[in-house]
Amino acid sequence: MEYLLYAVIAYILGSIPSALIVGKVGYNIDIREHGSGNLGATNTFRTLGVKAGIIVTLADILKGTTATLIPILFGAEVYPLIIGLFAVLGHTYPLFAKFKGGKAVATSGGIILGVNPILFFVMIATFLLSLYLTKYVSLSSMITGVITVIASIIIKDTGLIIVSIALALFVFYRHTENIKRIINKTEPKIKWM
Ligand code: G3P
Repeated sequence: MEYLLYAVIAYILGSIPSALIVGKVGYNIDIREHGSGNLGATNTFRTLGVKAGIIVTLADILKGTTATLIPILFGAEVYPLIIGLFAVLGHTYPLFAKFKGGKAVATSGGIILGVNPILFFVMIATFLLSLYLTKYVSLSSMITGVITVIASIIIKDTGLIIVSIALALFVFYRHTENIKRIINKTEPKIKWM
């Protein structure tokens, strides 16, 4: 029963469509009609600029972190990362945005931040280094997913290994179109790094 309660809370938190809210409230723009059409931080940076992009990145990370921290703070007998997965599902298939959301990256980082801040900073470093080297946000997101699995294996945390593999597979699945574009050389590269 506890699992159900915290999973529902996490899903609802994850469902808050930060990119849609920031676009509509701050700029009167529906970012689903711009760029990649994705309701995520990358498309917010692309469509609305750095300020909006940073706000959405932080909000999407926070959704995941909050979802894992709530059961921890309440001393619930649940595995917080499993609860966090429901925030990722909410972010990707949001109740409040016709079930068409983001690509799971920032919120996945957020749930890791809630349980292992050091691993989160390894993820950030991996992402930024990959972005510097490849200029592809999507590829950097997928590389970060793989490195998170490797780091979880190195620190021998079984729960984290299972969850990070699930997250990496899901991130790859959500980037199917990006993978095709990378292969066709039509995926946009960032220009500011
Ligand atoms: O976090 C999503 C990112 O990896 C790709 O987003 O908008 O370029 O498809 P986008």
